[in-house]
Formats: sequence, structure tokens, C-alpha cells
Amino acid sequence: MTLLSQIESALADAFESVLGEKVATPVVAAADLRFGDYQCNAAMMQAKNRRTNPRALATQVLEALDLGSIGTADIAGPGFINIRVSPETFSAHSAVLLKDDRLGVPATGEGRRVVIDFSAPNVAKPMHVGHIRSTILGDALSRIARFLGFEVITDNHIGDWGTQFGMILHGWKTRLDEAALAADPVTELVRVYRSVNAETKEVPEVLEVCKAELVKLQAGDEENLAIWHRCVDLSKQGLQKIYGRLDVSFDHWLGESYYNERLPGLVEDFLSQDLARVSDGAVCVFSGGDLPDEQDPFRIQKKEGWQDNPAIIRKADGGFLYATTDLATVEHRINVWKADEIWYVVGTPQQLHFRQIFDICRRWGKSAGFHHIAFGSILGEDRKLMKTRSGDNVQLADVLEEAVERAGRVIAEKNPELDEAIREEVAEIVGIGAVKFAELSQHRLTDYVFSWDRMLALQGDTAPYLQYSFVRIRSIFRKLEGPFAAESASLQLKEEAEIHLARLLARYGEVVPTLLDDHRPNLLANYLLELARAFHSFFEACPVLKAEPSVRDSRLALCELASRVLEHGLGLLGIRCPERM
Ligand code: ARG
Repeated sequence: MTLLSQIESALADAFESVLGEKVATPVVAAADLRFGDYQCNAAMMQAKNRRTNPRALATQVLEALDLGSIGTADIAGPGFINIRVSPETFSAHSAVLLKDDRLGVPATGEGRRVVIDFSAPNVAKPMHVGHIRSTILGDALSRIARFLGFEVITDNHIGDWGTQFGMILHGWKTRLDEAALAADPVTELVRVYRSVNAETKEVPEVLEVCKAELVKLQAGDEENLAIWHRCVDLSKQGLQKIYGRLDVSFDHWLGESYYNERLPGLVEDFLSQDLARVSDGAVCVFSGGDLPDEQDPFRIQKKEGWQDNPAIIRKADGGFLYATTDLATVEHRINVWKADEIWYVVGTPQQLHFRQIFDICRRWGKSAGFHHIAFGSILGEDRKLMKTRSGDNVQLADVLEEAVERAGRVIAEKNPELDEAIREEVAEIVGIGAVKFAELSQHRLTDYVFSWDRMLALQGDTAPYLQYSFVRIRSIFRKLEGPFAAESASLQLKEEAEIHLARLLARYGEVVPTLLDDHRPNLLANYLLELARAFHSFFEACPVLKAEPSVRDSRLALCELASRVLEHGLGLLGIRCPERM
């Protein structure tokens, strides 16, 4: 049990004995350590309900409070109850954590099945930095949810059936360079797509030709289907390379095309159940202007009348839309996969789309915990949307390549003695880690500025700083002569710096479950930075290997725990730690 929950339940008992009934006693880590380690404002909440004096109530609660050996309590201000944890408790708790392979994190998600929809790029188009956020954020959330005990199903809902195929088919037949396709398929497909797209702007008839190709594809034309299949396969291979480098994987890749056959029947169902009606020839689902206003209200761009926008599920010409596919996708995830929750990690521009989908699903009787986990944009150093010098979208593959190259230079400078082959391996871990951490350490809804120097700095709020902290701890153990078993060491923490490190280590089990309250891995990133800073302060203030044997073992055990928590926490963010750097 975490220290926080032990304190919470002791307080709950005390409140119950004073008030004669059970009440909520939420405890938080104190913002200011001068007042203690944990704080509870339940006396103020309860006094307000009962019109009594909060300080008097807090005093009675304190008399009834049995904290055992955890620590001491006192009252501050209008009736806050502050708890100070004793050094002995921190020592004993650290020893408990060393024997716990969950590092104190309770499995709060047990018994719930969640489908996480993330990355989902569009086929035959390059993955750009817009997809980077979804991929990195979605992967981290999947890892966190899995560790918390959720049964996680990750699904890459790729856009493999969009209108772009009209242009690609026409381009494939008129200007494909087979050699270029063999060398770098995605780049060649994108070149073909762009070339046709540009042509349609000058010669409008070409657009008609493309539309005709698309209609043929949708009607099942053999030649077009074969080309489509090849495009999808080639694109998937290109994506797999990037995911491999990012260490991201999916349980399923059910793209949009998977649902094609269901779409006509789904629209008929909607019409027969009176969920949709025909308007100007199109089949529409109206939401009656009462879309729930639950997601990130400060970011949504409310255009005049936006709530009355119907979701179109069949166009007047008979074609189906993105929304139709998403409804079929929900149906599959609930009926076949038995999802209790569905999370969509998709940028803020799709907010209206998901609100409509969630609202329609509720009325359709498809119930699950739906969440649109939205995120902002990535900006260049000029604070405008990130672009290459020629004005194109930046490609994810190029970003990763450059990150690794730059990390190699940073490492070579830091540690010129490192063997060339090891340096390459470490550069991969540090470069990819830096890109991921730059993303995950931001509040997901803010637009963040992509800065190479900042994300690769060894001193700063970066992955390399955390990885370097880990390496520094491991190097203590390399210098150690003779065996050492952290699990059986007895901890006796006395110095403020070591107590503070233990205090933060005890918080790991309290922080991780809160990450999914609002789907914010940045809280973990911040925690890890604070932990690393605490380690460095400890290491400066307290000698480890030179201390006398019993103190040395106690501190070594603390170092061991700190390295485990750092490595594990980074692991939840999808970031690896090198042994040296
Ligand atoms: N392919 C879409 C895009 O790139 C994202 C799909 C998100 N998932 C979903 N079920 N709609 O914008």
C-alpha cells in the first residue's frame, strides 16, 4: 500500500469515529515541505457541510487519529491536517519497495478492457510530425494502462480507403517510376500523389479522371484493387520501419477499408431505427444541439452553430464518409472486442467529429467509456507550424534520423572514449528518447516548440538528462567491489537529502495511477525530473562508496531503488536507458 493510501485510511477511520459516518478524506502530497509531506482538507469540507468550526473538527480528528509509526500530524491555517512522515517510515518503505517488482504501483485498471486508437496515418502519404504526437502519446498511454492492469488492445486505424486513391491510381498508371518505387516506395507514392494533385489544379479534367478511378476501385475493379493492395502493403512496410525504430507495436491494424462491407447495412440500420434521416439527398444524424461539452473546453473552436452540424453518414451520391467508418469501428470494438473503454489519440481539429461520434453511439446503445485524447501542434522555432525549409511537412523518419545523428555528436563530445559501436547504440537510445520526451513532458494540449538544442541538452528537462542520471547511478555499482544485495540491506536514512530522495521514491506508486485521470503522461515526466534532481542533490551531499559500511549499504540500496524507478518510469514513457553514455 502506498504511504498516501495508508494515511488516507487512518484519517478515514479517525473522521468516522468523530462524525459517526464514513466520509471522503482525500490526501495529497504537500506542495510545501515545510508543512509536512501530505495534506488533507477534509476537516474544512466536512465543517462546511455541518456548519461547525473546521479547526475544532480537525482537533477532534487528530485526537482520534492513529498513524501508527507512519509519522505525526498537526493542524495549519483554517483546518488543514498536515502529516509529516518519519525518517524511519521512509527507510522501511524504501525497503518494501525494493522487494516489490511493481515498485509500489497498485493495479488500478484491473478488470477493464480498453481499446487505444492511435497513430493511424494515411496510406500512401508520409507520416508527418502531426502523427508523431499521436504515436508517441498513444504508445506511452498504452504502456501505462497495461502496467496499471488494464487489458489493452492497441489498434492502428490507418486511412487506407480515402479519396487520395483516385489520384494515386491515376498517377500509378501514368507516371510511376518502378525503380524509384523499389528503392523507396513511400517517397515514390507521395511523389506520384503530389504530381497528380498539382496537375488537377491546372487541368480540371484530370480530377474527373481520378474520380472515375476511385469509383472503379470502390466498385471492385480488379486492376485497381490490385494496385490499391500494393500501395497499402508498401506503405505498411514503410510504417513498420518507423515503428520498429520507435519501439511501438500494435495488436491490430484494422484500417478504414476493413469496415467497407458493413457501411451500407449500417446506414440502413440507422435509417430504420430513426437515428438518421435524409436531408438534401444525404443521410444525416442530427444531434439536436445538445452535444456534451466535456472535452478540453478551452481549446475547442466554436464556430457559429457548430452544435447543429449534422454528421453525414451517406452522401447524396451514395458514398460513405469518415464518420460512417468510425461508427462501424465502434460497433466492432464493442461487439467483438468487448471494449469497456475506447480512447482516441487524435489531434484537436477532430474534436467536433469525435463529439458527434460519441453522442451518436450513446443514442445507438453502444456504451463504453469514450475519450478523445486530443493534443495540440508542434511548432518550429519561429513559432509557426513546423515545416521544412522548402515549406513541406516535416517527415517523421527524417526527424528520427536527425535526432540520432545529433545525439551521436552530443555523446562523442561528452565521452570521447566511448567505443564507436557502443556510441552508435547509445545515440539511437538517446536520440529517440529525446524526441519522445520532448513530446511527453508537455501538457498534451499545448503547442510546443521543437528545438533540437533544448531536447538534447544533458542539463535540462530532457531525456538525456534522465538517462545520464541513470547511467551515473549504475556507474556507482560498477565501481563497487564485492557483492551487494539491495533487497537485504537495512536502510537507515538520516540526512535530509537521502530522506528527500526516499520521499520521492515513495511517491512513484501514487503518481502513476493518476496519469490516466486526464491522460497526461507529462505528470510522470515531471515526476522523473524531480526524482533525478533529488538524486543529484543526494549524491552531492552524501558520499556513498566512501561511507562506513552500514551507511554505505543503506545508501547503495537507495541508489538501487532510484535507478529502478528511473528506468521503469522512462520505460512507461517508451524510453530506454543505456548502461553508459
Ligand atoms: N487517419 C486519421 C488522420 O490521419 C486519423 C484516424 C484516427 N482514428 C479514428 N478512429 N478516426 O487524421
